[in-house]
Amino acid sequence: MEKVTSGFVFLTVKCKTQNLKYGYSIPPQNSHWEMISMGVLKEEGPIPYSKGLEGIIAALSAISAIDGMKGKLVYRGIPIEMLAKYSTYEETAYLLLYGELPTKNDLDDFSAQMRELRYLPPKVEECLKELPPNPHPMDVLKVAVAHAALYDPDRLRCCREGVMRKVLRIIAQIPTMIAYYHRTRIGEDVVPPDPDLNHAANFLYMLHGKKPDEEEARIFDVALILHAEHGLNASTFAAMVTASTLSDINSAIVSAIGALKGPLHGGANERVLKMLDEIGSPDKAEEYVLNALKEKRRVMGFGHRVYKTYDPRARILKQYAEYLSDKYNDRRYIEIGKKIEEVMIRELGKKGIFPNVDFYSGIVYHFLGIPRDLFTPVFAMARSVGWAAHVCEYTANNRIFRPRAYYIGPEYVEYVPIEKRR
Ligand code: CMC
Repeated sequence: MEKVTSGFVFLTVKCKTQNLKYGYSIPPQNSHWEMISMGVLKEEGPIPYSKGLEGIIAALSAISAIDGMKGKLVYRGIPIEMLAKYSTYEETAYLLLYGELPTKNDLDDFSAQMRELRYLPPKVEECLKELPPNPHPMDVLKVAVAHAALYDPDRLRCCREGVMRKVLRIIAQIPTMIAYYHRTRIGEDVVPPDPDLNHAANFLYMLHGKKPDEEEARIFDVALILHAEHGLNASTFAAMVTASTLSDINSAIVSAIGALKGPLHGGANERVLKMLDEIGSPDKAEEYVLNALKEKRRVMGFGHRVYKTYDPRARILKQYAEYLSDKYNDRRYIEIGKKIEEVMIRELGKKGIFPNVDFYSGIVYHFLGIPRDLFTPVFAMARSVGWAAHVCEYTANNRIFRPRAYYIGPEYVEYVPIEKRR
């Protein structure tokens, strides 16, 4: 294997049976492409290999675009900063799903539908009450989404209208699933959805059992907008792979939730707060970071496969984290966070390591009273629309995903009967 950094590379490789010439287009900034050399059938021509699919274009999409060098993100062409300032989660969801901003009537209809679809089938409610002790909330969400599919009145409908209702239903139900699970585990009565509240405010209401303050509901609304979509990240890709087999939307969302759970993806936000607690005070942050880097440990909430500069979502969330820290007169987390950021950028900024969306979102959620182990489910709640938008877009012109592995095992191994094995 040979490691290359950028450019267009032709590699003549020797394999056991033939000499082959491969061409690879290596996007700049990708430092982890590796060349493979053997075993590819000659008539198939060059086949690139990229660990973790880095730099591979796997689909055409008009949903969002990321400029990882400039730190820009647009949904359907609209900069994320504009959406954070002027839009709502419902409007952004419409934009992502249907490709354009809604008219007032369209938005009213869409919001009314989302509000109607929030309720859970009674069997799903029951299931949320009968869980084994201390499950991971992301596992609970997977179970609830899979279970809800069994009772979906549109489950047998494959027409566009039926599919869209299933999509909206699952986006609308996920917040209820999370809130009902939480209320049940803390021994409180579940709080049914309030049709007078929007998506963000209703979630906080169902979670806490009291109407949220308007300003905090708006901050949460913005956090949901910022997490709603992000191209072919691991969970979206997982959803697309499942959907590309022409499976159903709930199965695709279950795949996505499984992928989002991992600490390298959505699970990082919860770990950021754990790290802030471990550090304890801003004066200990530098030593913590330097030790982590020395021991080759990842500092959670930093780095990104696409962004090689400041994640624009982190920039917005940092402002809210500052604001809420002042509002609650508790600047411990934000001060530790800012010190970590300073040291990380000083040490790894040249490598393109900067705060990502998960770094400051945890502080925001903390002040909104969201329990720590629900941070990733809340990410899932927001991202469900991105998952669905990509599934709809991709399957409209579907081709099953089926990459190949490059076989590096032995060419031939004799089968040894069990009694002769050692
Ligand atoms: N702390 C310390 N070093 C890091 C970090 C980090 N958080 N992230 C990357 N690096 C280093 C890494 O060690 C490597 O160094 P070297 O070239 O010397 O081996 C270099 O930067 C490139 O890292 P990579 O792992 O090859 O990059 P990747 O594109 O495969 O991984 C990532 C991206 C997000 C998985 C990674 O940056 C990471 O593990 N971050 C911490 C977890 C995290 O915050 N995840 C949330 C991601 S954003 C939201 C989401 O997707 O859910």
